[in-house]
Amino acid sequence: MELIDLFILCWAIVFLRLWWKYWSVTGGGPKNLPPGPPGWPIVGNLFQVILQRRHFIYIVRDLRAKYGPIFTMQMGQRTLVIVTSPELIHEALVQRGPAFASRPADSPLRLVFSVGKCAINSAEYGPLWRTLRRNFVTELINPVRIKQCSWIRKWALENHMERLEKESVQNGFVEVMANCRLTICSILVCLCFGARISEERVKNIELILKEVMLMTTPKLPDFFPVLAPLFRRQMKEAKALRKKQMECLVPLIRSRRAFVKENQNPNSEMVSPVGAAYVDSLFEMKPPTRGPLGEQEFVTLCSEVISAGTDTSATTAEWALLHLILNQDIQEKLYSEIVGCVGTGVVKEEDVEKMPYLAAVVKETFRRHPPSHFLLSHAATEETKLAGYTIPSGVNVEFYTAWVTEDPDLWEDPGEFRPERFLEGDGVEVDITGTRGVKMVPFGAGRRICPAWSLGTLHVNLLLARMVHAFKWLPVPGSPTDPTETFAFTVVMKNPLRAVMVPRTTSSSCAH
Ligand code: HEM
Repeated sequence: MELIDLFILCWAIVFLRLWWKYWSVTGGGPKNLPPGPPGWPIVGNLFQVILQRRHFIYIVRDLRAKYGPIFTMQMGQRTLVIVTSPELIHEALVQRGPAFASRPADSPLRLVFSVGKCAINSAEYGPLWRTLRRNFVTELINPVRIKQCSWIRKWALENHMERLEKESVQNGFVEVMANCRLTICSILVCLCFGARISEERVKNIELILKEVMLMTTPKLPDFFPVLAPLFRRQMKEAKALRKKQMECLVPLIRSRRAFVKENQNPNSEMVSPVGAAYVDSLFEMKPPTRGPLGEQEFVTLCSEVISAGTDTSATTAEWALLHLILNQDIQEKLYSEIVGCVGTGVVKEEDVEKMPYLAAVVKETFRRHPPSHFLLSHAATEETKLAGYTIPSGVNVEFYTAWVTEDPDLWEDPGEFRPERFLEGDGVEVDITGTRGVKMVPFGAGRRICPAWSLGTLHVNLLLARMVHAFKWLPVPGSPTDPTETFAFTVVMKNPLRAVMVPRTTSSSCAH
């Protein structure tokens, strides 16, 4: 080797070393981002995450132990700032709420389903979001509307109990999650479109919306928007799925419009009075920066309600029932409370408000099994600071809220399922909305808190109260329950819960 070759080789090594050093650093540096695990050039930490073949929530759990309450991950072109401590979550979401109330840019794939971010969950913090959210709150979940629509829940729960009884007779056990999902989905479809439709059609809606959720979970194009033109196949599939979603929901919207405008109801499926369905409020809506909405937007806004409200509540009901099966004492205590309240009658909506132990069981389930371990991605409205670090406006700010409920400094024996802690213990003072402090925030906190948290809780309360009042719940003989978790939009049981139900003598399980 000649001297000049040796010289070039040395320079190449020095250059590569500097290049690697520059690219592998995550966080810190002149940008003053929070520190983070060293990444690879160009792709950052993306392939390290993919190669681990574990869900992101488990990787973050380990990184939190190493990097502490706030750290950065570089996922391709996307920078993620991950916030895990209760103090920082409270500071960002409540004390400085507006500063962190926006959402990051959507990938082209997600934009197909959100029709350019025209949904409450994806809209940036601004006039469009404010109008959509205010309309949702006044039209769907104000206390008068909740009361007016209580017949929908009564009807859906009667079907639920009948379906369970049939399934139990047929198979000797019931599938808890599938039944709870179907019931909640029927309620939300009726709240959105004012229509009472067959279970087969509800199942079809459920299936399509599940496909949409799977399609829109973060994938490679999300991390490399610059390469979007290369992902033509995915885009084609997304457009085909969107067409299917439109074909499934537009007939309901058209039939509702005809009912509202011309008083037509040919197949009698429209059951809510004019003005009582969520979609009615969207027909005449002209949100700022958007103008009058069309069928694309109606489909997106109604799908968001059904998707946001189904899995979250059904997952909670399934986890709660698992613990009631594993802890028969807790089940008996809950059963006694329900019987003490309603005797042999049917549990009504106003009854569940008078059941403190039920509320404690449901809160303990939200604590022990928060349906989502992260909130939806947040973004700063403009460059700001958190914990002394710079948070640029373009980055994803991810709140890892599950850690808060696992923290042994905040909870005594956090791994145990103990509803009593909410009656006399470390849960008594807890504010589930996070406003007074963050100890558990299953619905988020601040400006973007789940606007339907009370409705979601009502669905879980009613399902549990009706099911425990009518039946004693037991494991399937020879098939022990398995509490292993897996991730499917929410954190669900890997092997869905199957249970045996034995009728109680105190209850007429159905209202007929
Ligand atoms: C147990 C039930 C539920 C749980 C645990 C839950 C949880 C959450 C969480 C964690 C967020 C994200 C908050 C954030 O990004 O900071 C959220 C947002 C949202 N949820 Fe829920 N949710 C539930 C039920 C429902 C129901 C029944 C509906 C509709 C009827 C609903 C509609 C929404 C909407 C529209 C948003 C977006 C809010 C925004 O971006 O301003 N949720 N929910």
